[in-house]
Amino acid sequence: MTTVIKGGTVVTAGDTFQADVLIDGEQIVAVGRDLVGDTSIDATGKLVIPGGIDVHTHLDMPFGGTNSSDTFFTGHRAAAFGGTTMHIDFAIQPKGATLRETLDIWHGKANGKAAIDYGFHLAITDLPDSVMAEIPSCLDLGVSSLKLFMAYKGALQVDDTTLFRAMQMAAKHGLLIMVHAENGDAIDILIKEAIAEGNLSPKYHALTRPPELEAEATERAIRLAEVAGAPLYVVHLTNNGALSALRGARARGHFNIMAETCVQYFFFTKDDLAREGFEGAKWVCSPPFREASDQVALWGGIADGSLSVVSTDHCPFWYEGGRDGRNPGKELGKASFAAIPNGCPGIEDRMMIMYTHGVRTGRISLNRWIELCCTNPAKLFGCYPQKGAITPGADADIVIWDPNKQVTISAATQHQNTDYNLYEGWDVTGAPSIVLSRGRVLVQDGEWKGEQGAGKFVARRAFGK
Ligand code: URP
Ligand code: ZN
Ligand code: ZN
Repeated sequence: MTTVIKGGTVVTAGDTFQADVLIDGEQIVAVGRDLVGDTSIDATGKLVIPGGIDVHTHLDMPFGGTNSSDTFFTGHRAAAFGGTTMHIDFAIQPKGATLRETLDIWHGKANGKAAIDYGFHLAITDLPDSVMAEIPSCLDLGVSSLKLFMAYKGALQVDDTTLFRAMQMAAKHGLLIMVHAENGDAIDILIKEAIAEGNLSPKYHALTRPPELEAEATERAIRLAEVAGAPLYVVHLTNNGALSALRGARARGHFNIMAETCVQYFFFTKDDLAREGFEGAKWVCSPPFREASDQVALWGGIADGSLSVVSTDHCPFWYEGGRDGRNPGKELGKASFAAIPNGCPGIEDRMMIMYTHGVRTGRISLNRWIELCCTNPAKLFGCYPQKGAITPGADADIVIWDPNKQVTISAATQHQNTDYNLYEGWDVTGAPSIVLSRGRVLVQDGEWKGEQGAGKFVARRAFGK
């Protein structure tokens, strides 16, 4: 059974051109003029783009005394409505568990629920020799990236010994190291001081995690990776100081030192945490929102190629928790900012926000939008051109993007399983009209046509292969 997408403008990371796209079963089989299929989709006046890939998400994750509120079904449905057809989630090692057991836990969360394709990074929290010995086998399990947290003391944080040993092992076996780069030890002191002084409102979350402590940890991770010879991907980079550390590495010729930022860091500042009453809790995530000057710096990092990917760090919590009968939310931190679950929703919004505020404002080209949100994620994480490409042989994960469709973002209409949206009331122009995952329609003109359990695990190749 073949389907042809007719009359659209194909946009890839490298090109923009008029072409039809022919799909046979789950894959693209031809891109060209005057193609014919058993059925056809009219894409006249629309863009035909690879589905978005979000490489930084936390679905159904135990964290901060609760659980993130999207499951692998609700998160996938929300992703699809926003034009994202693949994500890579963090399988977080419970202390004492093996990497194999960790992955089994996360596969269990996704099995039977997944509606889009997905992969896993393994987040190491505990690295005895037995777990070190498992690292080479990660690739056999389809995992090519290991994450380490340099913050969240007493919970997820690892020390430099652990980080460096993981880097050495990753370097030997073709794995990409990812870091959450903040100095968790110093932050822990600042949090305790703030609490002792009675400074308990949400804005102190940002004030106890200053940008210098992200810049320091970023520089440290980079230098350790350079010595270990490991490829490094710094997640959710937020500020000019951390960006300088990244540029320094690249200026020394270490092009395998890379970083993402997340879409929300272009638009919010630490002042959002100081909103009236407890409202600021909605903006509590780590690293925290910074200054307007850092937003400008991040756009600069996008423009000069220092930043390789824009993801979301989608980690939704309820504002007024328990609405899903399961997970308390941000209100856990009403008495103290230190107990507010860290994280924000965004998997549904990323492609639309970057299109309206990136492409339409002229900050990035159409092709750079695709590169940052679809193609680089696939390339860096070992699944290109199966994903992130409109080319024969690629999976038919395709979005028919209507560049003129107007949407007002709101918690009332979103599909993310939470009761707020950072971009509440924002008008965007440009949104998906049809979303395909391996040739199947998931979303058409605002209606859900997808299926729980149809999403598949994507086994990824070694870094650079
Ligand atoms: O606040 C955040 N970012 N929550 C999710 C965990 C992490 O640090 O990525
Ligand atoms: Zn993080
Ligand atoms: Zn995260």
